Amino acid sequence: MITLAVETSCDETALALYSQERGLIGDVLLSQTKIHQEFGGVVPELSAREHTKNLLPLLDLLLKKTNFNLSKIDFISFTLTPGLILSLVVGVSFAKSIAYALRKPLVPVHHLEGHIYSVFVEKPIPYPFLALIVSGGHTDLYLVEGFGRYTFLGGTLDDAVGESYDKTARLMGFGYPGGPILDRLAKEGKPTYNLPRPMIEEPTLNMSFSGLKTAVRRIVESGEYSKEDLASSFQNAVLDVLEAKTLRALELTKVRRLIVVGGVSANTGLRQRFSMLADKLGIELYIPHPKLSTDNAVMIAYAGLERFKRGITAPDDINPEPNIPLETFGRLWS
Ligand code: KG4
Ligand code: ZN
Repeated sequence: MITLAVETSCDETALALYSQERGLIGDVLLSQTKIHQEFGGVVPELSAREHTKNLLPLLDLLLKKTNFNLSKIDFISFTLTPGLILSLVVGVSFAKSIAYALRKPLVPVHHLEGHIYSVFVEKPIPYPFLALIVSGGHTDLYLVEGFGRYTFLGGTLDDAVGESYDKTARLMGFGYPGGPILDRLAKEGKPTYNLPRPMIEEPTLNMSFSGLKTAVRRIVESGEYSKEDLASSFQNAVLDVLEAKTLRALELTKVRRLIVVGGVSANTGLRQRFSMLADKLGIELYIPHPKLSTDNAVMIAYAGLERFKRGITAPDDINPEPNIPLETFGRLWS
């Protein structure tokens, strides 16, 4: 069984061919970061235009690279939600056109579900597990008890962690995306600045990161400061909150298996911190390869295969939605 997967929810245009029996056949990814860099963040109209321009040439490249005949696919997986609506419309229309031309079924995937299954690409893991999703748009904790069985436990009430990295980097005069830049800088600095850890003591699993950015702004505006030390202090504060909330979620759910996924899971400090936590608690920890942490179509293909195996397909006239919660999506499409 082979799927073509389409991912266009934000600023990465990505396609993958994935076989259930043989694994990844090949994938292609075009990042738009250079285009959005001068605006300090993703410009939705530009993103949609780039997806429109690049999808067909990328498909061509993928087929050439893999020497694969598109008519051999069994179905098309695509990101239905959440994301920038204009960008989703382009990807969904593309998926629908191929499905129509080849008379193949369509299989919808939730972007966060894709992130969860990015871990399975390397090695499927047993259920249940706790999922900490840390990306540019989301910072959430879920209990995952099976495919499509996602229970929301808590998450950020304001900025997502990736968004906070990007905004903080911009405040410090760096380009987009800020996460990898601050990650690099943090390694050269020390956490000397006293930054807030909002809601860390609260017994709920809710989080807040917008105050952190405001505290960084105050330091930046006060004049001279060490970029390395500020990056290190910022990262330390973020990781303290994520670690405390994850620990609480592990205690509440009593699961002994944890995955950390989404763009920010590529962060080297986070990987170190969570592997130390897992060692200390004696629990299993899975973090995808950094290439699979950030947006890609391989994870969408994997989740699509899981859904198709269960006989779940979408009607031909399906349309994207900007924000269906993962838990609702799991119930609707299982
Ligand atoms: O999952 P993702 O590729 O896209 C969304 O679904 O949002 O996540 C993108 C986010 C960006 O905010 C980016 O700055 C952040 O992930 N990111 C990182 C690192 N690499 C990417 N944040 C911290 N450290 C990194 N190494
Ligand atoms: Zn993502």
